[in-house]
Amino acid sequence: MSYIEWNKKYELGIEIIDYQHKKLVSLINDLHDTNEKKEFKEDLLGVILDELAQYTVYHFSTEEQMMQKVNYVNYDSHHKLHANFVKKLEDFKERFSNKKENISESLFVFLKQWLIDHIEREDKEISYHITTGGGLV
Ligand code: FEO
Repeated sequence: MSYIEWNKKYELGIEIIDYQHKKLVSLINDLHDTNEKKEFKEDLLGVILDELAQYTVYHFSTEEQMMQKVNYVNYDSHHKLHANFVKKLEDFKERFSNKKENISESLFVFLKQWLIDHIEREDKEISYHITTGGGLV
């Protein structure tokens, strides 16, 4: 069983965003599975962490371009949430690569809760804005 089980209720109905959210979930699941291995995991964890950080930036950028296109009213606050999350991931990556911190269960709890809560709250608001009249221009 995966650490995060994808649920249809997380879908926004915007194909590219749903695809990217599933990819983020899959990367967190890979990170979790690898962390549970007993051997040869340190290098691989670093690679997956890098990929997760890079893909997160890429995903946020896709979403932010979409929000700008529709003059989304809550763009600034949404962007701030993205920036804070990226900073937390980058800080953790640095502590991990300097061997100052291992990947703990509390990090996984944070990643899972942040992503699912963010999709269900702030991301769904974008979808609501687009489907109720904001539209993609
Ligand atoms: Fe899907 Fe606002 O991140």
